[in-house]
Amino acid sequence: MEIKKISDKFFEGGAIIEAKYKDQDLTSLNKKKIINIFEKKGVIIFRGFKIIPNKLTSFTDLFTYRYANDAARRTKMFKNKNIKSVDLGNAEMALHSEASFSPSWPEILWFCCIKAPKKSGFTTLSDGVQFYRKLSTKSKKFFLGKQILYNLVVPFKGDLDVKKYLKNRKKKELKEWILEVPGTFDTKINFKKGFVETKYMTFALSKTRNINQLAFCNHLQAVFGTDPQIIECSLLNGSKIPDLIYREIRKISDETKFSIKWKKNDLCMIDNQRFMHGRSKILEFEKREIINIQTLHANFGFGSSLRANYK
Ligand SMILES: [Fe+2]
Repeated sequence: MEIKKISDKFFEGGAIIEAKYKDQDLTSLNKKKIINIFEKKGVIIFRGFKIIPNKLTSFTDLFTYRYANDAARRTKMFKNKNIKSVDLGNAEMALHSEASFSPSWPEILWFCCIKAPKKSGFTTLSDGVQFYRKLSTKSKKFFLGKQILYNLVVPFKGDLDVKKYLKNRKKKELKEWILEVPGTFDTKINFKKGFVETKYMTFALSKTRNINQLAFCNHLQAVFGTDPQIIECSLLNGSKIPDLIYREIRKISDETKFSIKWKKNDLCMIDNQRFMHGRSKILEFEKREIINIQTLHANFGFGSSLRANYK
């Protein structure tokens, strides 16, 4: 399988896999090889393959044990509950790892370009491994030793308005609950209104599929405005992340950020526990259509292809 580099901004460069002939089917590719490239590089763009948008899951199924129950705010596409439109609105979106603030953190993100943007609304990517390597020793120490605390309100009965819920909910509606994920506490459920309220502590750094690499991969730059589920974000002791560290993060974001120049029918497979993504502002007349699939759990072991060292 011939691969091309996406960008020098990524550690290992990422991978573009191009179709060898017109209308080549994605499922004709060697699954083991794809897993190996994905685990090593963290991002693959499949280009020039035959894409039938409403049948995309026949390919993503090959790598998925379970899909994420994504925030109901996204519009369901093609009557397939696992294919969604990307985030609503036109504003710029800061780099983030999808749902990295929550106990359900997807392993793989899939973006498929149905209509390529021309001048604006480009998807941005940053490799968390490269990001971590660029952090100062002081900031590395800071994030290695400190956890981030998220206060979350999560709807589980469809597209519900979190703000409205918080205004109207009554204390007596809340029942003690348990989410069996380490890091969750003070968890309550409101069956009547369809919400779970929980606190969740996690790190801004993640272990990656490669034992020797850590990644800076989190939601810190997109805490408010993108996800209404996040009510509060602080360090575990309640204090804020110092401005000096935020400044460094913004600088490294600018240095590591890469914009995908989408081509129609591109399919992008992203290691969501290593790469962060975002979006540049969408201009008024831009026509852009990108769909999204989220694999909560992959059906191959974390790092399995790298540890077995198979070709
Ligand atoms: Fe996102």
